[in-house]
Amino acid sequence: METVIKKINTKSIEIAKSIIREGGIVAFPTETVYGLGVSAYKGNSVKTVFEVKGRPNDNPLICHIGRIEDINLCSNNVTTTAMKILTEFSPGPITVVVDKNNKIADEVTAGLDSVGIRIPKPQKTRELLIAIGQPVAAPSANTSTRPSPTTANAVFEDIGGKIPLILDGGSCEVGIESTVVDCRNDIPILLRAGKITKKDIEKVCGKCEVALPTSKVRSPGVKYKHYAPKCDMQTILTNDVERIKKAIFDNKDKKIVVIGNEHIVNELEVQVISLGNSTEEFMHNYFNALRIAEKKADLIILALPFKKENAEGLFNRIEKSCAGNIRK
Ligand code: TXA
Ligand code: MG
Repeated sequence: METVIKKINTKSIEIAKSIIREGGIVAFPTETVYGLGVSAYKGNSVKTVFEVKGRPNDNPLICHIGRIEDINLCSNNVTTTAMKILTEFSPGPITVVVDKNNKIADEVTAGLDSVGIRIPKPQKTRELLIAIGQPVAAPSANTSTRPSPTTANAVFEDIGGKIPLILDGGSCEVGIESTVVDCRNDIPILLRAGKITKKDIEKVCGKCEVALPTSKVRSPGVKYKHYAPKCDMQTILTNDVERIKKAIFDNKDKKIVVIGNEHIVNELEVQVISLGNSTEEFMHNYFNALRIAEKKADLIILALPFKKENAEGLFNRIEKSCAGNIRK
């Protein structure tokens, strides 16, 4: 199948709307990462998304809507907790989990009776979702296990040839996936970390719990291999040039690309990709940097100058990308 990339505008929205309403798949931009969208009401179409991504079918998809009034397309039991969180953070990088209604195909939720719902930020994407008039189930538009796509080209790299259309909205503002929160009870439970933090949610709801990794898996997606580049990767928690040089020396038989803070760019003899300075810049640039680096390296060394407490969402992605190979 030929895959076309089109800038997202009134004309391409019309085409995308027809494809999705007829049961096809379209990749679209959000402020977090690109999504691989299909009507959440069409079980057979949802199955094809799992196939295209190579995704385990016990891992549920998030439903995307264009405005808060459309939440009843997904659920007849939206809790006060969910409304508080959506009102504060939407449109934006947050997903609330509530009871699903029976119009949402079982394939979307992998048989669970709950559904994740989110309102993405880009105006044009919301126009598309409103025009479709049905919730759009969409996982991140990467092949399963790969870094999430934050540009239309990254989507093409993984999914090109398998879907008819990629809507191009430029590079995603946030750069990592939404925070997922179970809102079925009074106290929300954080299932997946993201730009919106536990503290942010506590400001709105008073309390927020965190699902323990050892508890019964509440967010099935968190147990799989994720976000991994094609080559090896190790992370060192430092910004100290001497330590980075030592790590390079220890692997001198390998082709190395270092990813890190902009201050180390001119200090090393191997290729360095700068992620910027702030945690926001690191998040924004992270997945794309992995995709650039893996094309040249046998080993990616990520020099991370932040503590976990100050960048939990980012840290969580990094831990998975390098399969826990992190040195203090
Ligand atoms: O930012 C995002 O959330 C992006 C963009 C495209 O919106 N989407 C995304 O989808 O990251 P995906 O499929 O890669 O991750 C969905 C996550 C998984 O960890 C999944 O287990 C969890 O959300 N999830 C979805 N529905 C759930 C439910 N009913 N209960 C618990 N976890 C759920
Ligand atoms: Mg994903």
